[in-house]
Amino acid sequence: MKRTYTSRLTPGSKALVMGWVSHSRDLGGLKFFLLRDREGHVQVTAKKGSVPDSVLKTVESLSREDCISVAGTVKEAKQAPGGIEIIPESIEILSKSNTPLPIDIEGKIESGLDKRLDNRFLDLRNPKHSAIFRIRSHVFKACVDFFHSEEFININTPKITVAGVESGAELFPIVYFNREAFLSQSPQIYKQMMVAAGFEKVYEIAPVFRAEKSHTTRHLTEFTGIDFEMGFIRDMNDVMDVNERLIRHIVKHVKENCGRELETMGVSLRVPKKIPRLSLEEARTLLFKKGKKIPEGEDPDPEAEKLLGSMVKEKYGEELVFVYHYPWEKRPFYHMRPDGNPKVTESFDLIWNGVEIATGAQREHRYDVLKRQAKEKGIDLDSMKDYAAIFRYGCPPHGGTGLGLDRIVECMLGLKNIREAILLPRDPERLTP
Ligand code: 4AD
Ligand code: MG
Repeated sequence: MKRTYTSRLTPGSKALVMGWVSHSRDLGGLKFFLLRDREGHVQVTAKKGSVPDSVLKTVESLSREDCISVAGTVKEAKQAPGGIEIIPESIEILSKSNTPLPIDIEGKIESGLDKRLDNRFLDLRNPKHSAIFRIRSHVFKACVDFFHSEEFININTPKITVAGVESGAELFPIVYFNREAFLSQSPQIYKQMMVAAGFEKVYEIAPVFRAEKSHTTRHLTEFTGIDFEMGFIRDMNDVMDVNERLIRHIVKHVKENCGRELETMGVSLRVPKKIPRLSLEEARTLLFKKGKKIPEGEDPDPEAEKLLGSMVKEKYGEELVFVYHYPWEKRPFYHMRPDGNPKVTESFDLIWNGVEIATGAQREHRYDVLKRQAKEKGIDLDSMKDYAAIFRYGCPPHGGTGLGLDRIVECMLGLKNIREAILLPRDPERLTP
């Protein structure tokens, strides 16, 4: 017999199901347990006299999380969860589980996040937790579909590098034979290089490493970056437009394909209509009225981002907002500056319910201007030989964005901690499992 998922059982038929033992009850001559597989649960009911004695004996010997296979008849049963049960004809134990379990998987006892993460594969047997990753899988698919529908070309760039163009403090050094190398902190250089190579529109979804000693609910030392870069843009609004369509597509796709998971998590999603675009100056004025001051030349802090998020929700009815024209002092040298306003950059952040999910910009593509900008930041452009070369043989005006997949999942589902949104988080403390 072919194996069936518990969600696809029809009363009156024979079925073979496989999964894990969750709750069980023994009323003497009547024994039940729930079998859980990745699609749900089904009750297995063994009544003395109606099932073989050997089956009854096996049921008696079962403990929670034993991995088993059950063959039997599917019947309607009003009192059972989902309205059906299986009357077993044979039960095979595929692998016994140790007792006690290190964490309570589906029960009443909530374990702390650290303990859950220490036992992550067991923690993920809880349907509420695995739902996050089924949704994440769809977010990934939605991104890939979106980029292809917009004619972006997928690229894979090296994660072993010599240096980045973001701040050097965040690099993880590695021993590379007899030299020093670093884990990639962003595909920035390479995605710009591939625009200059003539691909025009490229994207990459890959690991990003940041040696940040941040202990927050939004920072990891290894996360999944969604990066895109596009040539022949008019200005940064073209880049924001792509972000807006991408986010709309992701939310719509998840809404349409993850109904059950969203219900399990008690989350309802709203597809954004129009994501408002505020200059940092406008955001500063709005925040000032609410008593929050962002000093000139500074970025909004997390508290300001949160407050801005709730103000935008109130004013525009949207959960997302673009904030643009970040101060030159705070942005990397490769961000373009608008004509006549060297204090700001043609850059933006995308903020979802008060959390930054993306940073993007129009890049400076004019070699001489870029060289001057680097110098202002104390960098010699020509010492970054491979990066400098991109701008010397015909480089189109271009721009792009880096988004965090983990942050998107966190914000979309309203999770309290980014560690909930990643299978096996890495942070300054955690290197296992
Ligand atoms: O804002 P970031 O540092 O920007 C860049 O890497 C630029 N190269 C992007 C560009 O194209 N201009 O990182 C981009 C995004 C952030 O908005 C955030 O979503 C995520 O990556 N991110 C992190 N996610 C988890 N943990 C961390 N430590 C993160 N740092 C950044
Ligand atoms: Mg950023």
